[in-house]
Amino acid sequence: MLLRERKVIVTGGPTREWLDPIRFISNPSSGKMGVALADESLRRAREAVFIYGPIDAALVSNKRFRAVPVDTTEEMLAAVRKEIEENAVVIMAAAPADFAPVKKSGQKIKKTDRLFSIEFTKTPDILKELKEMRSKELIRNLFTVGFAAETENVEKYALNKLTEKHLDMICLNDVSQKGAGFGTDTNIITIFVKDGSRLELPMMSKQEAAARILDEIENRLPRYLI
Ligand code: PMT
Repeated sequence: MLLRERKVIVTGGPTREWLDPIRFISNPSSGKMGVALADESLRRAREAVFIYGPIDAALVSNKRFRAVPVDTTEEMLAAVRKEIEENAVVIMAAAPADFAPVKKSGQKIKKTDRLFSIEFTKTPDILKELKEMRSKELIRNLFTVGFAAETENVEKYALNKLTEKHLDMICLNDVSQKGAGFGTDTNIITIFVKDGSRLELPMMSKQEAAARILDEIENRLPRYLI
């Protein structure tokens, strides 16, 4: 089954985990990589949906892909679960917050002169949830693509994620390099595929990088799926 017959679900941007009604923890993901992937997916696939955390609204206005806004990592997981279908391609370019406060204060936390601590718990790992769904055969023929934003031992950590999250492909961006990663208009990506192949891309615009990633997905689909 080819990409033009499939639905592509792209995630992008950060998520927020709230400490109180006015404060949250998050990260500087702009959503640009996700938007570029959703644009490119729409050109090539049967359907493209973009599930995104809080980003500049202008990035998704006047787009032809379906856009689903979310706030927290739990909400992103729920939206992915809702959109998932047999034979879908899932591209996780989002940077979901990995930790959330155990308790969200109902009121603004007041300043104090004393040290205080906040207890955090792990948020759900969306790609690991998809791995579970695949292993229980709740959903068949998914093709999953992860991203790895790393600052050290970049290749080792990316390859660990490829295996641990049971991915078909992972796109490593070494975010310590200028012109790669969060907020930039360009990216520097190395693509690792579960068959052991790798493709190192030079710095290019996020649109060009998205096209190269979709090329790799398109080339691999018939090999892995019925
Ligand atoms: O949005 P931009 O400013 O354009 O920047 C793009 C980007 C740098 C955010 C993007 O290219 C990128 O690298 N996204 C992944 C960032 C990240 O959170 O990496 P990670 O190593 O924490 O997560 C690894 C993979 O697991 C990612 O595919 C992530 O989407 C996924 N994940 C992470 C946490 C979580 N709770 N669930 C997940 O599924």
